[in-house]
Amino acid sequence: MPELNSKSFAFIGAGKMGETLIKGILDSGEVKTEQIIATALHEKQLSRLRERLDISTTLNNIEAVEKADVVLLCVKPQATEGVLAELRRALKPNQIVISIIASVTTPFIEQKLINNVPVVRAMPNTPSLVGAGMTAICGGKFSEKRHLKLTENIFNLIGRTIVLDENYFDSVTGLSASGPAFIYIIIESLAEGGVKAGLPRDVATELAAQTCLGAAKMVIDTKEHPAVLKDNVTTPAGCTIDGILKLEEGGVRVTLIKAIVEAAKRAKCLIND
Ligand SMILES: NC(=O)c1ccc[n+]([C@@H]2O[C@H](COP(=O)([O-])OP(=O)(O)OC[C@H]3O[C@@H](n4cnc5c(N)ncnc54)[C@H](OP(=O)(O)O)[C@@H]3O)[C@@H](O)[C@H]2O)c1
Repeated sequence: MPELNSKSFAFIGAGKMGETLIKGILDSGEVKTEQIIATALHEKQLSRLRERLDISTTLNNIEAVEKADVVLLCVKPQATEGVLAELRRALKPNQIVISIIASVTTPFIEQKLINNVPVVRAMPNTPSLVGAGMTAICGGKFSEKRHLKLTENIFNLIGRTIVLDENYFDSVTGLSASGPAFIYIIIESLAEGGVKAGLPRDVATELAAQTCLGAAKMVIDTKEHPAVLKDNVTTPAGCTIDGILKLEEGGVRVTLIKAIVEAAKRAKCLIND
């Protein structure tokens, strides 16, 4: 993508998620290591990033930002205010700030900055590491179509991207950002079931994971309602319906619904911690 290979990127606060995004973006082959600089609070994290990703690093956020066209804010919600105060004068309107910080809104960021810097909010998830991420994006007051397009192009390198109203972002955080953790528990539990039914653990884990991947791909590619796809697997008086009965008995639907609702509720108030 010509636009991306001419940009320079600063990742401010490249911890777990920052590193995931950098690795995913580099693996896409569209962005080179020389285009990226990352910061963290401690030298230990920076040496880890240099060793693993071969990118430039600095403890100085302002120095990183001054060299960048695109500034990705990846710090924790609680660190946001301090970082924005530090970057207030350094950020310019010809740059773009992309924040992946949960709970922090574009008006909050804009209010802390000067110079009408375009801000885009993004909520990615950890499967971005393997090119299977899901990212929601929305633009702030000073962002234009081209800023959203650029952000979409970046996150499309590492998975799917959807443009959504900012009002949805806490729900997105609860569903697709926290979601991988819920799915890992489901995969682990399915594998335990396989082990209980006599399969070796490694085989059971592979079957469980590929089954989740396949079922997800069916929903996305066929665009069928999941209930229709479920009905297609469920032969009258077959084994699947017996399994479904046990899932319903265990309240799997209510449990998953409540998990998303609770995570979304929590996403609203992380900034106040
Ligand atoms: N984890 C996810 O699945 C996920 C998904 C979507 C969005 N997010 C968002 O991503 C953000 C980061 O989450 P995370 O899990 O990556 O947390 P993390 O691993 O703790 O990373 C935060 C990084 O920020 C650095 N940092 C702290 N204060 C700083 C400062 N003043 N200047 C520069 N760097 C600073 C820390 O440096 P040190 O390591 O040196 O202390 C750390 O590396 C959060 O806002 C979260 O809401 C996370």
